[in-house]
Amino acid sequence: MPATLRALRADITTLAVDAIVNAANSSLLGGGGVDGAIHRAAGPDLLHECRLLAGCKTGDAKLTKGYRLKATYIVHTVGPVWRGGEHGEADLLASCYRRSLEVAGSKGVRSLAFPSISTGIYGYPIELAAQVAVRTVRGHLAQFPALEEVVFCCFSPTDLAVYERAIDERAS
Ligand code: AR6
Repeated sequence: MPATLRALRADITTLAVDAIVNAANSSLLGGGGVDGAIHRAAGPDLLHECRLLAGCKTGDAKLTKGYRLKATYIVHTVGPVWRGGEHGEADLLASCYRRSLEVAGSKGVRSLAFPSISTGIYGYPIELAAQVAVRTVRGHLAQFPALEEVVFCCFSPTDLAVYERAIDERAS
């Protein structure tokens, strides 16, 4: 059975899943938005581990422990900054989802939660980003048989509605 996909509205730092994904920047040394929330909730040991990772390229992903989070692991990925859509943004965003699945898959993760990568400070239009997110995750699930559930964790009710629509559209 391929994993189920669903969207929910929550603070991703509170989720009891095996791994959460962080929408980080290439330094991996923290920032605002969901990145700041994850560092605050996980505690200072997260920053110590991140310092050892020597950054992360846009579209790539790296793993740390979850420290004070309920999640065992954090997958840090770096989404593209939206620059109008003609600068490879969609491919880079798809790469974030694919690489995050690979990194989580390498640890046998059974439940994984994504935030809406790039759609905050990085300015990626949410409707377009949600389509990339759902399409990419669905397209790669078969490669990760251990994965039972993928959650798209939205911070606002309007974002949730967009992701729910993207999930329904792709299912029909
Ligand atoms: N739980 C779930 N989603 C959240 C949370 C939370 N606690 N907090 C914010 N969001 P953003 P980006 C949502 O800006 O666009 C950082 O400074 C938010 O509403 O966090 O990829 C990094 O260091 C939005 O829907 O990430 C980078 O410099 C989504 O998370 C830069 O921001 C992503 O918004 C990355 O920008």
